[in-house]
Amino acid sequence: MELKGKVIVVTGGAGLLGRVFCEAICVAGGSVVVADKSDASGKELVLDLASRFEGRAIFCSLDVTSDSSVEVLIETTHAKFGKIDALVNNAYPRNKNYGKVFEDVAYHDFVENVGMHVGGYFSCSKHFANYFMNQNAGNIVNLASVYGVVPPRFEIYDGTPMTMPVEYAVLKAGVIHLTKYMSRYFKGKNIRCNSISPGGIENNQPDSFIQQYNSFGNTKGLLKEQDICGTLLFLLSDASTFVNGQNILVDDGWSL
Ligand SMILES: NC(=O)c1ccc[n+]([C@@H]2O[C@H](COP(=O)([O-])OP(=O)(O)OC[C@H]3O[C@@H](n4cnc5c(N)ncnc54)[C@H](O)[C@@H]3O)[C@@H](O)[C@H]2O)c1
Repeated sequence: MELKGKVIVVTGGAGLLGRVFCEAICVAGGSVVVADKSDASGKELVLDLASRFEGRAIFCSLDVTSDSSVEVLIETTHAKFGKIDALVNNAYPRNKNYGKVFEDVAYHDFVENVGMHVGGYFSCSKHFANYFMNQNAGNIVNLASVYGVVPPRFEIYDGTPMTMPVEYAVLKAGVIHLTKYMSRYFKGKNIRCNSISPGGIENNQPDSFIQQYNSFGNTKGLLKEQDICGTLLFLLSDASTFVNGQNILVDDGWSL
């Protein structure tokens, strides 16, 4: 999937999925802005990318919950590359109490975690859309989740300290609907919006969880970060010019 000449900003670009997305964008010929709250891992990633893809990767410190930080990201990207083709909303903000079972989630934590995530995706989209409107073109890809589409299978967490937090289900459903809302709102502006809903990604989960999760997959079950890249590159490329307002599940049939 060809991205030659395209400039793409990835929020949460230094994380598990983000770093693989940023590399895939460079391999496909694009330029990438790794935008992340974590300066250390973002800068380390960009050192590596810049050594292999000269002039096509920069780091920009970002807090998606801060308007001024998002504005600096847009200014920095424009100053370096002169245009922005796409925004990938991929950051994963959560507070220190995130990850509890339903009964233990406090009202404040629910509101804060949903707010930071959906609010961060909204705010980045709003600021970038303003830029895209002046440019007369833009593309937004939101990372949602299979859990924004189907309710969790709670039994797969039995015997592990893990759960699927209620905030996550709610905020990812929100991200999918935000995507559709924006897609229709930007009618006539040449700005398209789509979301990707990955299934679970391998990340040192307990064996019992892996076995239980995988039993619902068609071929593999838990995926690797690289398994999501083809769909991302498709949505960022001109091959998907008329794909708009869609949520693409990449989950090995897990949600069927
Ligand atoms: N890993 C999975 O299994 C999986 C599955 C489906 C969907 N997703 C979604 O994919 C996206 C990436 O997930 P991940 O697993 O790579 O997460 P991760 O935690 O590994 O990475 C998230 C990144 O976001 C950054 N971040 C956190 N708060 C931020 C803020 N306020 N501003 C800017 N950056 C901030 C972190 O520093 C981190 O680098 C998330 O939206 C997640 O919900 C992940």
